Amino acid sequence: MALPICVTIILISSLFLISNDGVEAFHSIYPDLQSISVPSVTKLHRTAYHFQPRRNWINDPNGPMYYNGVYHLFYQYNPKGAVWGNIIWGHAVSKDLINWKELEPALYPSNPFDKYGCWSGSATILPGKGPVILYTGVIDNRSSEVQLYAVPENKSDPFLRKWVKPKSFNPIIKAEGAINASAFRDPTTAWWSRDGHWRILIGGGRKNRGMAYTYKSKDFLKWMKVKHPIHSVESTGTWECPDFYPVSLKGKNGLDLSTVGKSVKHVLKNSLDKTRYEYYTIGRYLRKCDKYIPDNTSEDGWGGLRYDYGNFYASKSFFDPSKNRRVLWAWANESDSKEDDVKKGWAGIQSIPRTVWLDSHGRQLVQWPVEELNSLREKEVKLSNRKLKKGEYFKVTGITAAQADVEITFSFSSLEKAEAFDSSWVKAENVCEEKGSRNEGGVGPFGLLTLASEKLEEFTPVFFRVFKAPKNHVILMCSDATSSSLKRELYKPSFAGFLDIDLSHNRKLSLRSLIDHSVVESFGGGGKTNILSRVYPTLAVKKKAHLFVFNNGTEHITVENMKAWSMKSARRN
Ligand code: FRU
Repeated sequence: MALPICVTIILISSLFLISNDGVEAFHSIYPDLQSISVPSVTKLHRTAYHFQPRRNWINDPNGPMYYNGVYHLFYQYNPKGAVWGNIIWGHAVSKDLINWKELEPALYPSNPFDKYGCWSGSATILPGKGPVILYTGVIDNRSSEVQLYAVPENKSDPFLRKWVKPKSFNPIIKAEGAINASAFRDPTTAWWSRDGHWRILIGGGRKNRGMAYTYKSKDFLKWMKVKHPIHSVESTGTWECPDFYPVSLKGKNGLDLSTVGKSVKHVLKNSLDKTRYEYYTIGRYLRKCDKYIPDNTSEDGWGGLRYDYGNFYASKSFFDPSKNRRVLWAWANESDSKEDDVKKGWAGIQSIPRTVWLDSHGRQLVQWPVEELNSLREKEVKLSNRKLKKGEYFKVTGITAAQADVEITFSFSSLEKAEAFDSSWVKAENVCEEKGSRNEGGVGPFGLLTLASEKLEEFTPVFFRVFKAPKNHVILMCSDATSSSLKRELYKPSFAGFLDIDLSHNRKLSLRSLIDHSVVESFGGGGKTNILSRVYPTLAVKKKAHLFVFNNGTEHITVENMKAWSMKSARRN
């Protein structure tokens, strides 16, 4: 039965392969700012436990892996300035994913094939041979892209500091035939199939159709293109940084990329250059015909499920065999202006690494900060069973609110007062923007006011609001930067997502927020809906930042439990 499906799909997708080239938009380019060296670094909004290098611009996480007891994180880095440009691979290593040692750059332009940049890619550990990096090299100033490989100069160096790009076989893959060379990048980690081939995906697109190409190889050196993309979707623009991996139908354990079997589903994630948001689907991987078919439980396009509904892009996951988990990283870009970035002398951070697994109902993923983060927790405050009527709020005292981790569970006894859900509300962020945290609701808004100034001139609320739809209840989760800063010229989005939780039996909602000076990274419903916001308070900084718990809904809310911790700074070097 499988064959006819494959054939039909392949025919349909090949219809879309006849198209022309088109140079796509991507990072904003500021030629005059790219190489302004950074005289000093402004500390005010720098993060204490979200990874960032000492200075300059960073974007995508690259090639994360665990090798010989060490975690490696590479990242897109501009060694010359605080805006995108001059891109090389920065490198840091860690024993616990939280405390990092920054090393010298791993990859920088050194041959005609990456003269204009060493762009994103992944690492694969070849059994018995060690790690290999596959990355995108840019060969000219029109962003023509090829794929290259690099290997450690000395595999017995515990930190794998130096990488070499062998002359033979490089570049291993060029854009041939109808492929648009300026939208052909970001190779994935390779997986091995029983037919004796390694396979990778490369992101791309033509006309407005996003796609992920498959390449296969027996020896990791000679690569052959599979005729059709593994998957492609109309109107989604260029796909960057594809990620493709199996997830277990049962439990939270992660899986090695090559795992097959009936107890496994696959996830395909793409970063959409056009929107600078990513989305993922869960589906079936038809190995024999090199196709991926998303389940019909989630949308396959702009409106699809997202790992995170905030500032979270170009993510990449890896399997960590030491703890049998899949770990996810992403780049959290700034929301301030380029001029501010140049003044600060830095731009871009990495999210907290998250463990990711399939929810028990199989329709979506769940994410949670890696457990090692808890080692930074120090002073703890707790409370339970605290009631909040409409308009009431209280301050959480005793912790450093600008550098904190908060876990809180809210409950309420009835859903009667939930406001009606308007079926035209498709985009959660529009509802969040319209309703806000201050406008009275029925069940909610309730949640946290993070990075708040004493008199609430500035605050970033992270909250829930429950609505009643004809057949169910709709839960909105918001992280709203509208009032986050008195500074005007900032991007202050009302980020939001819907949360798939059945409240009919259990009227509880939980929230965890990681607050770190200019980032509020929140996990709703145990990690089902997540939102990372970048904010730049002017008053709510350092010791003048506060944390409040609030309820602006007419239904009374109980804070069942709350635990909040001051967070130590992570070690960097
Ligand atoms: C994603 C991306 C990748 C590219 C890299 C360049 O942010 O555009 O597609 O490889 O950044 O820095």
